[in-house]
Amino acid sequence: MARNAQFRKVVSPKKLAGEISVPGDKSISHRALILNSLARGTGRIINLSPAKDCLSTIRCLRALGVKVIWESKEVPSVIVNGRGDSYLSEPADVLNAGNSGTTIRLLSGVLAGQPFLSVITGDSSLRSRPMGRIVQPLRLMGAEIIGRGGDSYAPLAIKGRKLHGIQYHLPIPSAQVKSAILLAGLAARGETTIEQSLPSRDHSERLLQRMGAKIVFDSRHIHLLPPTSPLNSIDIKVPGDISSAAYWLIAGAIHPDARIKINCCGINPFRTGIIDALRAMGARIRCENEQMEGNEPVADLVVESSQLRGIELGGEIIPRLIDEVPLLAVAACVAEGVTVIREAAELRAKESDRIANTVKELSRLGAKIDELPDGMIIRGGTVLHGAEVYSHRDHRLAMSLAIAGLVAKGETTIHNAGVTDISYPGFWEVIQKISIFS
Ligand code: S3P
Repeated sequence: MARNAQFRKVVSPKKLAGEISVPGDKSISHRALILNSLARGTGRIINLSPAKDCLSTIRCLRALGVKVIWESKEVPSVIVNGRGDSYLSEPADVLNAGNSGTTIRLLSGVLAGQPFLSVITGDSSLRSRPMGRIVQPLRLMGAEIIGRGGDSYAPLAIKGRKLHGIQYHLPIPSAQVKSAILLAGLAARGETTIEQSLPSRDHSERLLQRMGAKIVFDSRHIHLLPPTSPLNSIDIKVPGDISSAAYWLIAGAIHPDARIKINCCGINPFRTGIIDALRAMGARIRCENEQMEGNEPVADLVVESSQLRGIELGGEIIPRLIDEVPLLAVAACVAEGVTVIREAAELRAKESDRIANTVKELSRLGAKIDELPDGMIIRGGTVLHGAEVYSHRDHRLAMSLAIAGLVAKGETTIHNAGVTDISYPGFWEVIQKISIFS
């Protein structure tokens, strides 16, 4: 793999300590931007995620005629002028979703019901990710949507038209697919019903409920009726992103001298698989000051050095920690005993093949880790040693490798490390802030 000028070096500090905040939740930020764009009135989004992925959503919404105005970049916040009764505007050019699966999939659901032509694409990683999973249900709703590779990949061309509701059984537990269908359902005639055998994050459902949509949902079923009047814009303070907090939870649990507090972090039950898995491994994690922020639960999280042991993971917990699996593999390397992760083949369809690449890169650090078709098996109790590793331009892999570097002997160099901005601008500064060397 080619070396890159954007590398970062990490060494293990004597101690990890500090009190930090993480950026606003990326999944909630995308949804708050998109739903406020469709709603009537003006919505303020405070603590919006500054992630490049969310900037991609803003770029696309602006190209669709939505006014999104930055109020402050200190605590990132924006004002969104919703379109309310009017449709979005036909974009003059191809929409670029960058690296963001959430942007392309959710916006495709919106565009399917808008009365104009749009073409949406992304970077080379996004163009290799499966889009048939949204094309198929959107077509069942009457959408005219085609894509490259037999309608499997972006660019997607969408000729918006009148849609109708469907009853759909989600074949994979994907919140992006579910949300695309719900967004199309907002513009459809009749009811949209979704059945999911394994639940996934329900941020769209919660936001839709807050904005006055006729939605009823539980962990298995969602019923949505198209609104008779536009959704109401809302002001929202976005909770801290648990997928970003997860790096510090693992760092704190595996480092021999650590105590880290993460303030005001989202603890939506469909996102807290990482806390459940870590606790099952013996991690000392406390949730303090639990409360509701908007329609989402939040808490302060405290983690301390822990003696971890291996576990077996599969089934319903996988969608609840899907983005944290490469990171969990790092914890499993340090834990005593064997960890087996199964039923996670979906990882191969992420920003990179996260099964193959996690195994490849952690092996360079001395991990005893093997690939399974749908997961990995890790023999723990290893002392990792610093080495040159590669992000594969995958933000979550870059950060997971950095956390491994915090407990490895010697220096770890992460190539193509700038990719962390995709979800977590400021990640490297936090490493610096909490690392104590003397
Ligand atoms: C996301 C859903 C998940 C997750 C992604 C964000 C979302 O993807 O991996 O990082 O915001 O809905 P899938 O829905 O494809 O599982």
